[in-house]
Amino acid sequence: MYICVCNAITERQVRASVDAGATTLADLQFELGVATCCGCCAATATEYLPGGRCSSVCDVRSIAVPVNPPAALAEQPSAPAANTYPVIQVAVA
Ligand code: FES
Repeated sequence: MYICVCNAITERQVRASVDAGATTLADLQFELGVATCCGCCAATATEYLPGGRCSSVCDVRSIAVPVNPPAALAEQPSAPAANTYPVIQVAVA
């Protein structure tokens, strides 16, 4: 599928550029020439960058939770016992 009609840039080319390290629209413009003519494709091309809806780059963020909470936190009646805090990972595509 073409992403940039003006410059005949395909989705495959955009994905390859992102896989090779492109992280901004400016990178895609420099590497491929995408969004350098009419600019209609800029928003679509941006969706292929890390964090975008069409990104194939997995953006996983971890939330650090103390395994051994401070004594003040552990002493709270509703606080779970030490070593029972869940480690939550959220994948943002
Ligand atoms: S469609 Fe990409 S610059 Fe026009």
